[in-house]
Amino acid sequence: MSNASEGQLAPIDPAAIPQRKLYTGATMPAVGLGTFGSDHVTPAQVADAVKGAAAVGYRHFDCASVYGNEPEVGASLEAIQAGGIKREDLWVTSKLWNDKHNDVIASCRKSLADLRLKYLDLYLVHWPFPNFHPPGCDVSSRSADAQPYIQENYMKTWRKMEELVDMGLVRHIGTSNMTVPKLKLVLRDARIKPAANEMELHPHFQQPELFKFVVENGIQPIGYCPIGSPGRPERDRTPEDTAPTEDPVIVKIARRHGIHPAVVCIKWAVQRGQTPIPFSIHNYRANLAGAVGDPLTGEEMREIAAIDRNCRLIKGQVFLWKDGQTWEALWDIDGEITPP
Ligand SMILES: NC(=O)c1ccc[n+]([C@@H]2O[C@H](COP(=O)([O-])OP(=O)(O)OC[C@H]3O[C@@H](n4cnc5c(N)ncnc54)[C@H](OP(=O)(O)O)[C@@H]3O)[C@@H](O)[C@H]2O)c1
Repeated sequence: MSNASEGQLAPIDPAAIPQRKLYTGATMPAVGLGTFGSDHVTPAQVADAVKGAAAVGYRHFDCASVYGNEPEVGASLEAIQAGGIKREDLWVTSKLWNDKHNDVIASCRKSLADLRLKYLDLYLVHWPFPNFHPPGCDVSSRSADAQPYIQENYMKTWRKMEELVDMGLVRHIGTSNMTVPKLKLVLRDARIKPAANEMELHPHFQQPELFKFVVENGIQPIGYCPIGSPGRPERDRTPEDTAPTEDPVIVKIARRHGIHPAVVCIKWAVQRGQTPIPFSIHNYRANLAGAVGDPLTGEEMREIAAIDRNCRLIKGQVFLWKDGQTWEALWDIDGEITPP
């Protein structure tokens, strides 16, 4: 494993990084750096990784107010630009947290101020459930004001997201943690349709139906936990969870290419067509290098397609709104939005 001095290693030419074309014609680098330190990495460490990642060629950064580090990440973004990388060559995403669905414009302005930016490339509604819970709370905790998905309410939030585009504060708006039935309603009612949907995607959770739906509707899939989030907190683990980096197929392919299994996950993601946003403070260069060279073969891609285990790692239990529900209720497993 490499270490935090990765930023000093030979850079990868940003022009070599595959790009995704959004429906607006804008392009987004097909791999980004995640910035959620999963509670065990300090904001300063994430901010250092952002600077180091830019030095080795990253141009896409996935941020969120709830990650608690936008001021520190913003200082790095400012330093990166002071160092000569132009704003228009960066892609910065941020997200509206769940207790701010009625405060979209002010929340976006706060993220912009913290990130020291005049505009965001992409602003996402982080979860489709308006709900407050303290960061780091146990998955069994329930909020007294938890609410189900209600289309009318989501659209009130979405109208404000659209206003952000009109105001020039954000270039694109998007969704996260959505399902096919919810997205169908948003596509029906939106004036400005989502440009991207951020969703959990890794070899053990490939979400083929949702993936196909977003691609067919011109929405870019951005894949979170692309490595299977090996550093996620204990509270986000259940005994059924599996680790894609330990899958014999991934391990075999990694040995063949002489790379870490995590990098196989990144290669697979980029070649499949999603935009992975791996978090890393120690291995970010290896992940970017994985996205640009030595592609997986067609046979390797088929082998990985066959190891999907439908294993959702980020289940979202804290968003449940009724006693006796299980986390599946959040994900509209039967193809219908779970009734209130
Ligand atoms: N929209 C949402 O609701 C949502 C939810 C979850 C996450 N996200 C976003 O997605 C990002 C990624 O998800 P994640 O952080 O949960 O999981 P992840 O990217 O799947 O895994 C990150 C972990 O993998 C390790 N790692 C990364 N590259 C590696 C390599 N080449 N070799 C060995 N180990 C490697 C990292 O350790 P080192 O630091 O030691 O390299 C870190 O512990 C987040 O940071 C966040 O930006 C969004």
